[in-house]
Amino acid sequence: MAQEERMLITGGQRLEGTVRVSGGKNTSVAIIPATILSQTPCVIENLPDIEDVHVSVETLRHLGARVNWDPALGTMEVDASSICRTDVPLELCRRMRASSYYIGALLARFGQAQVPLPGGCDIGRRPIDQHIKGMRALGARVETAHGLVTATADGLTGGDVFMDMVTVGGTINVMLAAACAQGTTTIYNAAKEPHIVDLANFLNSMGCRVKGAGTDVIRVRGVQKLASRRPYAVIPDQIETGTLMIAAAATHGDVTICGCIPTHMEALTAKLLEMGAKVDERDDAIRVRSIGAHRAVTFKTQVYPGFPTDLQQPMSALLCTATGTSTVVENIFESRFRHLAEMERMGARVRIFEQTAVIEGVPQLHAAAVEATDLRAGAALVIAGLMAQGTTEISNTCFIDRGYEHLEKKLSSLGAVIWRAQE
Ligand code: EPZ
Repeated sequence: MAQEERMLITGGQRLEGTVRVSGGKNTSVAIIPATILSQTPCVIENLPDIEDVHVSVETLRHLGARVNWDPALGTMEVDASSICRTDVPLELCRRMRASSYYIGALLARFGQAQVPLPGGCDIGRRPIDQHIKGMRALGARVETAHGLVTATADGLTGGDVFMDMVTVGGTINVMLAAACAQGTTTIYNAAKEPHIVDLANFLNSMGCRVKGAGTDVIRVRGVQKLASRRPYAVIPDQIETGTLMIAAAATHGDVTICGCIPTHMEALTAKLLEMGAKVDERDDAIRVRSIGAHRAVTFKTQVYPGFPTDLQQPMSALLCTATGTSTVVENIFESRFRHLAEMERMGARVRIFEQTAVIEGVPQLHAAAVEATDLRAGAALVIAGLMAQGTTEISNTCFIDRGYEHLEKKLSSLGAVIWRAQE
């Protein structure tokens, strides 16, 4: 990834005040392809102005859909009736992992899809064998050759899909394909993340019949003609909420995050409380305060409602200055510790044994020039920069822009000294 901009942070400022969380990245990249299924134009609201949404807009327009997207308002109108092709270009797939969702959506609406294998973050192999297994269970013919997935179907028929492991993307892709299939599809060992429920709610708002979303068995009764009847607002971003909570604790600040869903944050809240931070929950807001030293903790990433893998990296930054030795076990992806090498340049003391990182707390991190290696690694380096003495320079900010809407504006509004500089 070319190094376009750097983000600079002068650490040591307490974050204080109120900030509003944006709409969810991972729910947006699932609901936008789902608009392909609607016979009527769709209006989606609360979309974040982030790179992954821009790539989603480019993908829909490439397919021939008419898209009006107002990044400032967060509102998108999609008319899929003008879609005239079913191939997604490699250039777009390389920029976004969620491009695989167009397999399920295009198969459901048009009975065919040609989508290159997805790119995404360098956090692991990230195959899509379970996605393909699900499509085949619904009667599709799916071939993968030369990095391209080619899927065809003379009408999809509901079936049973037992996921070999819990996969968010696999669950989403099968839900999209099943939404217009003849009959009922049952997904066993389904993912339960909040954005699975959000997608189910959006599909049901178009007339589909999805039951059990949020549990490990999801039933989708396909409906031939889905039609959006009213605007749909995506849920707030669970991972941005968590990142802001961690930033508040990291700077011993006092921050209220508005527009979030506290029940989505329970695993992180429990860990922050264990570390000695104070967390107060309201209906749609969370207040995080932290005064004294933080206690070291142990956590293991799990599927929802366990500790989210996407918060492992920001949380490991916070643990670098906790009192004592913390243990982090990454159970979801095979190489999601690359940020730790960058944080060692800032004085962190870390030892890695396969999927386990042992972090020995140090009194203070110091600023350094560091490089974001993926989206949440970038977030971890922002947290480290907020804590460090001096001015940290983070390169490859394009990764951060994939998933955080105006992160430096939000942090500046809370008192952080953070800005961007062109190369
Ligand atoms: C989604 O990725 C998210 N991305 C990830 O967020 C998130 O970390 C992940 O879910 C887990 O919550 C989007 O929603 C766009 P998985 P996904 O399929 O769908 C293996 C971020 O930072 N697997 O649940 O790719 C896979 O290799 C991003 O916002 C298979 O083996 O995750 C992984 O080890 C990063 N075969 C595990 O399952 C498959 O067919 C979980 O992957 C599918 C997955």
